[in-house]
Amino acid sequence: MCGIVGYVGPQDAVPLLVDGLKRLEYRGYDSGGIALHTSEGIVFRKCVGRLTELERDLDARPVTGRPGIGHTRWATHGEPSVRNSHPHLDGSGRIAVVHNGIIENDQELREQLQAQGHTFLSETDTEVIPHLIEQALKDGAASPEAAIAQALKQARGAYALGILFADQPDTVYAARLGSPLIVGLGADAHFIASDVPAIVHHIDQVIYLNDGEMAVLQPDGVRILDLDGQALTPEVKPVDLAPEAAEMAGFETFMLKEIHEQPRVLRGLLEKHTHKKGHVDLTDLGLSADYLQQLRRIMIVSCGTAYHAAMYGKFLLEHVTGLAVETDLGSEFRYRSPRIEQDTLFVAVSQSGETADTLASLRLARERHCRVLSICNAPGSSLVRESDAVLFTEAGPEIGVASTKAYTAQLMAFALLSMAMGRARGEITSEQEQAWIKALEQVPNAIHYMIERADHIRAIADKHHDGPSALYLGRRFNYPTALEGALKNKEISYQHAEGYAAGEMKHGPIALINEYLPVICICTKTTDEVYEKMVSNMREVEARHGRIIAIATDGDTHVQAFAEDIIYVPPMCEEFSPLVNVVALQLLAYYAAQARGTDIDKPRNLAKSVTVE
Ligand code: M6R
Repeated sequence: MCGIVGYVGPQDAVPLLVDGLKRLEYRGYDSGGIALHTSEGIVFRKCVGRLTELERDLDARPVTGRPGIGHTRWATHGEPSVRNSHPHLDGSGRIAVVHNGIIENDQELREQLQAQGHTFLSETDTEVIPHLIEQALKDGAASPEAAIAQALKQARGAYALGILFADQPDTVYAARLGSPLIVGLGADAHFIASDVPAIVHHIDQVIYLNDGEMAVLQPDGVRILDLDGQALTPEVKPVDLAPEAAEMAGFETFMLKEIHEQPRVLRGLLEKHTHKKGHVDLTDLGLSADYLQQLRRIMIVSCGTAYHAAMYGKFLLEHVTGLAVETDLGSEFRYRSPRIEQDTLFVAVSQSGETADTLASLRLARERHCRVLSICNAPGSSLVRESDAVLFTEAGPEIGVASTKAYTAQLMAFALLSMAMGRARGEITSEQEQAWIKALEQVPNAIHYMIERADHIRAIADKHHDGPSALYLGRRFNYPTALEGALKNKEISYQHAEGYAAGEMKHGPIALINEYLPVICICTKTTDEVYEKMVSNMREVEARHGRIIAIATDGDTHVQAFAEDIIYVPPMCEEFSPLVNVVALQLLAYYAAQARGTDIDKPRNLAKSVTVE
């Protein structure tokens, strides 16, 4: 949930660390800090609040030095405060540590260290790490590496660490277990970071550290070793991310940029997997016809927005493959006694590939010998490494905390997967597949038209943003769209919002409806059955004087009779309408947030990558 960065090289580390941290701020943003090697030993600066506070402090109390490490925090243990912000030091002030993750046995370690005379200054779990390293050195560890290894062998939980020693003026140490960490290799400098976009401007090659590995970065090279001190030969990969991908490119926020990127992302994903004209090609996933024939069940697990994508995937896979499909939230699934066996395909969906609950669920599925397929946006992530096969969403870095392009790319991935599996199982014909591919080819342009209607959507958001609450209703394939629209609204505008299956409204939420409540109804013209039922639900809202905002298909004049406002969307078949409809809801939430004056890219209390339970 936090972001870490470290630098070893010939330049002053301060601007490089601050720039890297700013690019990682989406991971956590309640406090931050840096530690540097200087002629006076290790010097640090810390702040509470956004990194602008750190910059202000650095302006007021300038410092230079190298190498250095930095941290942007999302509090887990202890409130956001200078005392709790990283880097944390050992008792002598000669070892500085930044940490992303959670040390689960910190209380036990703290008591053990206190009994040995160590004094703690913060409430964090992290602080035990520099003290454990200090103690290991006191106990005779032969080198800093040996002391780090000795300390980490006592820690339970998850960590990505950056470590500085006052006595090692040209070295940054790093270690990883369960939290993401990369080593970036540049021409004359090396970095550590929580992700590639943070340092993409400075590096040509990257090493994705594996769990249980340590890195020793010095100006003339990088060594990777395990916790027993054995040297390892890492896989060094070229950086294949354009530096512009991590920039705002003239947009006012990353979220708006990412909304606009959706047509390009979806077109790219579709073209990549339909290059054989008229067929979806997912041969790389190794889902052979024999395997698919013996398959009995699909279990899809994920969290947040990715869970809404999973719900869509369930509806579509059931519709197209004839298989039983179940979904669950990562945080629930891992505590159930799920009936999954070898004939179950386990699908994990995650933008970041680092979500703790999704990962724990995947591990449970592996224990039950299920084949694991991931739908993921982050190459090199834990999810990717632990899966049998990966369908990459290829959306590029998503920096805005509220997921947009990663979501529609997940929907596209499920559309492709459903077609490939449906055909291999003989449940759909080639003609049907071709017709669906043609429909999917219309999606990028349809989204483009939606985005062109942004001014109209902004006007509607301006009118409705100030109420305390909003209700989102949808049916069948667009039921997850309603949930996702409500989630987008609450997470960035802080207006309370509920997503509901429209048919379920009369079983409870109808009590909320009065002349003040905006009710966003997804009633695009698809199958008559669903459309007519949706219209009946809207009539029920109208009868109670709810303020209906309809998401309707171009040319549908019927809804004008009872909707106060209408957002028209281009026509699309029901199966793929969620890919377009959700964009209207992303924009509605975006402009509501703007009208309410929130920090859209970094909404309060949230973090982009939830690496804790
Ligand atoms: O990285 P993941 O897709 O696994 O993340 C799951 C959720 O934390 C994420 O979708 C979250 O709900 C977003 N903030 C939604 O916009």
